[in-house]
Amino acid sequence: MTKQILIMPGDGIGPEIVAEAVKVLQVAQQRFGLDIATDEALVGGAAYDVHGDPLPDVSLEKARAADAILFGSIGGPKWDTIERDKRPERGLLRLRSSLGLFANLRPALLFPQLADASSLKPEVVSGLDILIVRELTGGIYFGQPRGIREENGERVGFNTDVYSESEIRRIGRVAFDLAMARGKRLCSVDKANVLEVTELWKEIMTELSAEYPEVELSHMYVDNAAMQLVRAPKQFDVLVTGNLFGDILSDQAAMLTGSIGMLPSASLDQARKGLYEPCHGSAPDIAGQGIANPLATILSLAMLLRYSLDRGDVAQAIEAAVETVLEQGLRTADIHTEGCRKVSTAEMGDAVAAALSA
Ligand code: IPM
Ligand code: MG
Repeated sequence: MTKQILIMPGDGIGPEIVAEAVKVLQVAQQRFGLDIATDEALVGGAAYDVHGDPLPDVSLEKARAADAILFGSIGGPKWDTIERDKRPERGLLRLRSSLGLFANLRPALLFPQLADASSLKPEVVSGLDILIVRELTGGIYFGQPRGIREENGERVGFNTDVYSESEIRRIGRVAFDLAMARGKRLCSVDKANVLEVTELWKEIMTELSAEYPEVELSHMYVDNAAMQLVRAPKQFDVLVTGNLFGDILSDQAAMLTGSIGMLPSASLDQARKGLYEPCHGSAPDIAGQGIANPLATILSLAMLLRYSLDRGDVAQAIEAAVETVLEQGLRTADIHTEGCRKVSTAEMGDAVAAALSA
């Protein structure tokens, strides 16, 4: 049966980097005879400009119908001051929530060729391979009540951090299952010394661990986890945490690998339908210059093939092609170091496509 992939380029560097991933997809389609149909939809500021809505119904319907979504990035200063509910970020959040994409997988893997690009010492990061599992449709991102209200003659901003047992349990199961398939070590990150919501989180994770006797479960406060990630990141295998902590720690983990421009992500529902996007944002400051790194998006495409299309073989071939171009010394500006060849977004995409077809 033909698999439907929806392409949502979004804003900023989104269209540039997604175009390179589409090149790679086309080569993969030919080489592996994949039965895939693609369609495109607007999202974020680009959708707001046309439809007055960052996630118009037509885009949401296409997303619902697709087997998987390849997503670029959204947002930019142009839309920072419009009505809050219409901002690009809200479009992405609504998409995640409407499709029930509660499990966000953010691997931080250091390609050996990039050990010098990290701001940490090579010995601290060499061989790094960790996976952050972030809860994506709950917590303080979605909790009610929320808003900005008037109180005693001044404005007061407020949000609610809330998780039900079932929400914690389902993300916990995803994390334990992934740990089983990897190094069998899971670290649950909380702030149980202060926040009740994460006290419950910790309790449920501990409860779940009885179902996974082979997985070694540990708990860490988020402040310590932030410190340990830069002190000795290789102590971790899989980390599981809530929406906000996961947002922060995954950017931090990304930087360990040299550039956030390298980090892919998958956001999955219960049935493994997924949205795949680079961890980085829309980088409006460099949009349109052809210098953005498309590798995170290309690696997101690999995750799409692995998780939603069950083609781990094709995913591996794409990851190997990325490694080949890094080995050839090709670097976009963000990962460029002395002695390597600085290439544009399109040159990087072409090189990966060529390595894949070889
Ligand atoms: C991410 C981003 C988003 C988030 C923004 C763009 C809403 O930072 O995917 O990490 O906070 O989840
Ligand atoms: Mg983020």
